[in-house]
Amino acid sequence: MPDQKIPIKERYPSVTRIPNHVAIIMDGNGRWARARGLPRAAGHRAGTDNLRRVLPAATDFGVSVLTIYAFSTENWSRPLEEVRGLMTLLGEFIQRELRSLHANGVCIRHSGRLEGINPRLQAQIQEAVALTRDNKAITLNVAFNYGGRAEIVDAVQRIMRDGAPPEAVTEEMISRYLYTGDLPDPDLVVRTGGEYRLSNFLIWQAAYAEYYATPAYWPDFDEAELAKALETYSQRDRRFGKVPNN
Ligand code: FPP
Repeated sequence: MPDQKIPIKERYPSVTRIPNHVAIIMDGNGRWARARGLPRAAGHRAGTDNLRRVLPAATDFGVSVLTIYAFSTENWSRPLEEVRGLMTLLGEFIQRELRSLHANGVCIRHSGRLEGINPRLQAQIQEAVALTRDNKAITLNVAFNYGGRAEIVDAVQRIMRDGAPPEAVTEEMISRYLYTGDLPDPDLVVRTGGEYRLSNFLIWQAAYAEYYATPAYWPDFDEAELAKALETYSQRDRRFGKVPNN
């Protein structure tokens, strides 16, 4: 257990640079459960509970936006029971945590399509977003029923519906029409569970993000694991396509 009395940045002196926006692909819940002889649902539950560790740690480090990939448009093809379980978990998470998230200054955002989600859960998501919209401690952007390509399709449709002439379409405009319109691009994308894929996650926004993959399963990804990711980020030389600085 880390000594919570010492400020987090003093506990991890090798973390010298803090990304403004961290985006996490929370993979490995199923394998975490299997390794313990538990059903996959127990892994997703442990993964949800893990937000109680990672969100405060990210806030203490000074991260402004934390995006979590909680349910992708591709996840609909999982067994019905697992899909239902993930929906239930988000509903329970909002019900259980909303008050304390609000009290702690967390601004909740949703990235993804609301259509397709059951109306009760849609209403819970909208309530959480509306209640916390002015909070400033950290933004928790929940990518739920989210797909990067679907997001670009939705943006282009909205641009066309708004009647923009082709020459008015710029990168800046497309960025603005994405679900993340007013959020900064991610600086660091973390993937747990040992795979090396972006899996349709923030494919437009992560064009210049640093990428960090760890074998740790998501339910095991704690404060110290987050610090390792930030330490690695601190050592990266971000060039955005330019020549290196001497
Ligand atoms: C990948 O693990 C994880 C997911 C598909 C869902 C992630 C969701 C949560 C952590 C909980 C929902 C979040 C909220 C905010 C309620 P996997 O099942 O693909 O793991 P595996 O690769 O080991 O099988």
